[in-house]
Amino acid sequence: MSNICIKELDSTISFEEIKLVMEKAHKAAENDKLSFPTSNLSASDLMNKTLNNGKWFLAINNDKIVGTLYGDIKNIKKWFYIGTVVELKYIAILPEFSGKHILSKLYEKVFTYAKKNKIELCFMSMSEYNYHHRHVAEKNGFILIDFFAAKGLKNYSLSYAYWLEGNCPYSKIRIRMMLQLRKIKAIIKRKILKY
Ligand SMILES: CC(C)(COP(=O)(O)OP(=O)(O)OC[C@H]1O[C@@H](n2cnc3c(N)ncnc32)[C@H](O)[C@@H]1OP(=O)(O)O)[C@@H](O)C(=O)NCCC(=O)NCCS
Repeated sequence: MSNICIKELDSTISFEEIKLVMEKAHKAAENDKLSFPTSNLSASDLMNKTLNNGKWFLAINNDKIVGTLYGDIKNIKKWFYIGTVVELKYIAILPEFSGKHILSKLYEKVFTYAKKNKIELCFMSMSEYNYHHRHVAEKNGFILIDFFAAKGLKNYSLSYAYWLEGNCPYSKIRIRMMLQLRKIKAIIKRKILKY
């Protein structure tokens, strides 16, 4: 673990290498019956989708990438926030490096990045069955904030939010109530509208 450092994307790193890490992490997660919509993206898709407004953070061990995360600066309009946020995407840790809390180190870098850009909220979405990622997110202060049915995915998805100054403006009761409502909406959408 002591040899791990977090680096931003530079010209020494190829998208093929990033893609390989994602591929291996996704493959290992198949044991937990998880699948990822981002698995279909090629190295050039990843490059094209991340050329603009964000930053890659890469965990490096002995000059090799062992973990990936992209912080995408974007505007959102959700029940819990309207404005500019950093969305955490393309998160993957090589299976042989999993369990070493590398993801927490990647989160830290994104939080600093968000602060530098005067952004107060980081958020990310994942399968409701990604118990490993949910555990790490919650341990690092992310709050379960939304439940939705993503198009083309069999399982329901969750969003987690992290308010940088610890200033979540909603009470626990309000969040619990909204989650129930959002869950009912997602189920209706999927069951009745076949979404
Ligand atoms: C999920 C993932 C990103 C986690 O990264 P990581 O760096 O291995 O995470 P950590 O080292 O912090 O995980 C260790 C913690 O998770 C816990 N954990 C391990 N497996 C778990 C599981 N199946 N369910 C719940 N918790 C689990 C450990 O007990 C440990 O908890 P602790 O810190 O309280 O002791 C990584 O495993 C991965 O790449 N998975 C496949 C891709 C993926 O899911 N990406 C996210 C897409 S949304």
